[in-house]
Amino acid sequence: MEYFYAQDNLSLGQMAARWVARELLACPDLVLGLPTGSTPIEMYQYLARLVQEGLISFTQARTFNLDEYVGLTVDHPQSYAFFMHEHFWSKVDMPKGNADIPRGDVSNLAAECHRYDDAIQRAGGIGLQILGLGLNGHIGFNEPSHNMEIHTHVVDLSVATIQANTRFFPNSDAVPRQAITMGVGNIMQAQKILLMVSGERKRDILTKTLYGPVSTEVPSSVLQLHADLTVITDIKL
Ligand code: F6R
Repeated sequence: MEYFYAQDNLSLGQMAARWVARELLACPDLVLGLPTGSTPIEMYQYLARLVQEGLISFTQARTFNLDEYVGLTVDHPQSYAFFMHEHFWSKVDMPKGNADIPRGDVSNLAAECHRYDDAIQRAGGIGLQILGLGLNGHIGFNEPSHNMEIHTHVVDLSVATIQANTRFFPNSDAVPRQAITMGVGNIMQAQKILLMVSGERKRDILTKTLYGPVSTEVPSSVLQLHADLTVITDIKL
């Protein structure tokens, strides 16, 4: 594991963006796994700046998002597709067809999960998976549980996650109760993983993630078993 310390969320985003840029320069047809949430916003902004300055290009890259809420259309302001459009897709030079995200608004969710796993396979798997960390240790929407799902699947969101995500919705009743998420297997099969963690309130879960027992009750702890994990954080452990 490599561990980089950033002063604050802004420099964390910039460090992560430079790290991604280095990977992209080495491998222009990189397949990226991408998170949404508060943590990566600065990274997306800085990547967009590097593209505008002509220093990097996403024209040959492909991206797969980790997750999407069930029931929200792509143009719903709280959908992750909308987030990605706002913060990244509309700002960089990647062809539209190169970006994929699970569709949460389809009638056959099981078929959508299969389609997504197939698409990742056909792209040759994820080269670099970027992750945020949930307060309860979720990665993607793989919530604490008695078991771990390997493939893309539909998940019931935990009470903690619904509470944490209420900040983006008018009230907690408006937060979708389910999501489609890549499984832990999809994530662990990535060649490289970059974990971004920001904010003191995540100190405890970051400690458990990196140094606690590997357990399905802390899904992020499985990252200890990955051969190429880099952590960028503003929390000094
Ligand atoms: C989002 C995702 C989640 C977030 C996590 C942290 O696509 O997969 O696992 O990365 O909930 O979210 P923030 O960054 O908002 O604290």
